[in-house]
Amino acid sequence: MIEMEHVTKRFDGGGTAVDDLTLEIPQGVTVALVGPSGCGKTTTMRMINRLIEPSEGRITVNGEDVRSVDPVIFRRHIGYVIQQVGLFSHMTIAQNIGSVPKLLGWSADKIKARNEELIALVGLDQSMLTRYPRQLSGGQRQRVGVARALAADPPVLLMDEPFGAIDPIARTRLQNEFRQILQGVNKTVVMVTHDIDEAVRMGDRIAIMRAGKIVQYDTPDEILSRPVDAFVEDFVGADRALKRLSLYEVSKVMQPGVDPAAAAKIAPDADLRNALSAMIAANTDRLAVVNAAGAPVGTVTRDAITAL
Ligand SMILES: Nc1ncnc2c1ncn2[C@@H]1O[C@H](COP(=O)(O)OP(=O)(O)O)[C@@H](O)[C@H]1O
Ligand SMILES: [Mg+2]
Repeated sequence: MIEMEHVTKRFDGGGTAVDDLTLEIPQGVTVALVGPSGCGKTTTMRMINRLIEPSEGRITVNGEDVRSVDPVIFRRHIGYVIQQVGLFSHMTIAQNIGSVPKLLGWSADKIKARNEELIALVGLDQSMLTRYPRQLSGGQRQRVGVARALAADPPVLLMDEPFGAIDPIARTRLQNEFRQILQGVNKTVVMVTHDIDEAVRMGDRIAIMRAGKIVQYDTPDEILSRPVDAFVEDFVGADRALKRLSLYEVSKVMQPGVDPAAAAKIAPDADLRNALSAMIAANTDRLAVVNAAGAPVGTVTRDAITAL
């Protein structure tokens, strides 16, 4: 779907921001580009929608060389979400979300219907549509940013540090919600972040960058269990085994039957990192798994988690 072949970017008077980078992103997959500040993530992403021209190499989207299309027209077909520049402050939320459809010549009725659909998709009330960006919280604005990027139903979505301006508690919730939204819309997503936890939470695959190169491109599970070198190992953190547990739900290792010795409870969709934490807190090696209706459905043990 998106292919970058031997792409290099040298800035005038600067160094090599992206260095002979090759990356293939299949359709429908969310890739998190992650790495320390200055490693070339934003430059890589901006070359995909031609906000930056590569010095060398080739980029294709859906088999089409991005240089062969008019960049302004092309960009209308790629959703773009960024942390800061965000929304047009002098436009209402409805006008913001409808900006690309309007450029594409959609009718007013069609734009209105699409706005209503999108505002619901990102979990906001219809009454938000008539407000201005300054009348929204940071998290609400970020939701509108995503709605706007999805407006014309682009096959590709680029997101540059989309949760950077949001406080940590709201951020985790938004990440989880966006993950669900993205799963429902079948988009190819490239997301830039410096935060490995965000990459693990959001990415189907993670590309770890260092000094303009990709050092590992793999599933979160592979990256966390088999970092290719000391740099990746250090970058993912000493708690990588615990991070890996956060990828799996209790239901994955739950055993049938409720153990009478299980003192504490956990939900089947809680992640295994939280399950282990609950065991430590309750000084026990097993938890009763209890569904939303309060009925016990099984047991999760520390041995089962360790075996995984
Ligand atoms: N317009 C520019 N001119 C010169 N150097 C730039 C420009 N944009 C980025 N760079 C440099 O390229 C490198 C990669 O930048 P960037 O892609 O923004 O990194 P990241 O998003 O990973 O933090 C950095 O060293 C940065 O200073
Ligand atoms: Mg950046």
